[in-house]
Amino acid sequence: MIPETQLPSEPQPGPPRAVKLAPSLLACDFTRLGEELQSIRGADWAHVDVMDGQFVPNISFGLPILAAARRASGLYMDVHLMIESPERYLRDFAEAGADGMTVHVEATRHIHRAVQLIRELGKNAGVTLNPGTPLEAVRPVLGDVDTVLVMSVNPGFGGQKFLPQSVERVRTLRRWLDELGSAATLQVDGGVSAANARALAEAGATCLVAGSAVFGQDGGAAGLERLRSSLGAGLGERA
Ligand code: DX5
Ligand code: ZN
Repeated sequence: MIPETQLPSEPQPGPPRAVKLAPSLLACDFTRLGEELQSIRGADWAHVDVMDGQFVPNISFGLPILAAARRASGLYMDVHLMIESPERYLRDFAEAGADGMTVHVEATRHIHRAVQLIRELGKNAGVTLNPGTPLEAVRPVLGDVDTVLVMSVNPGFGGQKFLPQSVERVRTLRRWLDELGSAATLQVDGGVSAANARALAEAGATCLVAGSAVFGQDGGAAGLERLRSSLGAGLGERA
């Protein structure tokens, strides 16, 4: 009989991964964009939601706001392009100050080409998908991206309710990325708050986007701090 200490054990979870926080500017007060960016200077990334009224039923803002945010802040600008055929505008967003650009697999016929183009522009490439799109749709490009974003609401609006099935989607993508040996950031966007941040991090997310949970109550700094402390031991430190 094998002594108990030598029995094969359950796979142990690896060391906790640091989690980046990316406040979404969509929820900030645009009359005070510079101050709002200052209030989140303790964040890791600033998330910039671009909507075209075609891919999603809402129009947000575009290049001039990104350029203004870039001038006002040294934060990494994480640009989420909710626009049809995003390849048409990648160069413009790169020149306006994006550090990373994330494109929707549903918005282009050529996701691989779009990802390649982002990298050719010297920027970090991200891919994302809507809650109703099978995860398999992004699998072929997982080895080619720096960020994979799980949408946990239907894109288009801030302040929506978190879709709980997203946790399982994060877990699956975490497994696929680990199998590939990929160090890509696994990001979640939509309805993220202090109530679900820890569960998402435990499922393997390494970057959380939050709009209303950061800017919606008592200011960006306090919102960010609340989110960070909800992550708890080992996960809440700045990534
Ligand atoms: C939704 C956007 C999100 C949005 C998140 O289409 O992609 O980034 O700003 O807002 P909250 O955190 O309020 O759900
Ligand atoms: Zn977003």
